[in-house]
Amino acid sequence: MAGSWESSSEAERVGFITRAQSFSACHRLHSIHLSDEENKTIYGKCNNPNGHGHNYKVEVTVRGKIDRVTGMVMNLTDLKRSIEEVIMTHLDHKNLDKDVPYFATVTSTTENLAVYIWDGMVKSLPPNMLYEIKIHETDNNIIVYRGE
Ligand code: NI
Repeated sequence: MAGSWESSSEAERVGFITRAQSFSACHRLHSIHLSDEENKTIYGKCNNPNGHGHNYKVEVTVRGKIDRVTGMVMNLTDLKRSIEEVIMTHLDHKNLDKDVPYFATVTSTTENLAVYIWDGMVKSLPPNMLYEIKIHETDNNIIVYRGE
């Protein structure tokens, strides 16, 4: 007997996987579009010329169909490898402004860091799988970017 429970179990299910990754980096908030005075006013102590550090925690979320054969949205090994390439290789223990060419002209706010990570993860993951980049800059400050 094919009841509604059974038929719905045959429908395609969509699941989400989130993997968390921590990394450490330093930066200085300074916009090339603003004067030194304006930078100081807007960014305050984050504009300190010698920079400051963060222990960032990034959560990468992918969304996709739960494969009927494997039972998985995607293989966590592949997700882990992409995160290693995009985040750890380029950002961990780096000076974001000086070591990452992208931030030579783009201010290294956590919003822009989320965009940078999104762009890298989109290229590394299978098409249409990336759902969200969430960065915990501190325990209290959390930024989300979904590619819009
Ligand atoms: Ni900062």
